Amino acid sequence: MIIRSTELEATTVRPDQWPKTMLPEFAFLGRSNVGKSTLLNRLLNRKQLARVSSQPGKTRQINFYLINQSFRFVDLPGYGYAAVSKQERQRFAAMIDRYLNDRECLRRIFHLIDIRHEPTKDDVAVHAALLELGVPVSVVATKADKIGRSHVPKHVKVIRDTLRTPVDIWPVSAEKRTGLEALWAVMEGDLAE
Ligand code: GTP
Ligand code: MG
Repeated sequence: MIIRSTELEATTVRPDQWPKTMLPEFAFLGRSNVGKSTLLNRLLNRKQLARVSSQPGKTRQINFYLINQSFRFVDLPGYGYAAVSKQERQRFAAMIDRYLNDRECLRRIFHLIDIRHEPTKDDVAVHAALLELGVPVSVVATKADKIGRSHVPKHVKVIRDTLRTPVDIWPVSAEKRTGLEALWAVMEGDLAE
């Protein structure tokens, strides 16, 4: 994909703030700190388009990024972050649910899972719900640079078995910029449909 333009189109806390024009959207969802914002920046080759922090819970809104004036990346708030108040967690969950269920132009959900760890109970529950939506889902196994290359297949299998999923699992490292082409190929396929 040749990236000609990127812009933060909308930072939203309510559905009426979502962009009105229906362009294909790719959503990035995962536990807090799994690397959603970092991956999005790397895919777009932009240093800090999406805000990244070592503190979890950084992304607290649904952020829409417009790319090449023709499709969007959607950075969803991370789930499973205990230090956020219960009330706020429920607010995030409701907002994410609403987006995933109601957004007609949602083309694919990338569910991000840290490659180092077995998926948590939250990950398993979220994944099962995603598979019910009827929208294409892919798993992205993030931070692959944190384990040796030879360990990748074993970790991918743990993720597959724990999530009990039939969907593709793509190992990536935003740090080392590996696996990004494969994700673009998936998205180009979706956009060509
Ligand atoms: P929230 O917005 O809090 O939900 O987090 P997030 O999922 O957007 O994570 P973010 O991109 O902010 O990254 C969290 C931390 O993980 C940061 O310190 C990143 O530098 C680090 N990180 C992200 N991707 C990678 C990667 O591929 N490799 C390594 N080693 N670190 C990464
Ligand atoms: Mg983030």
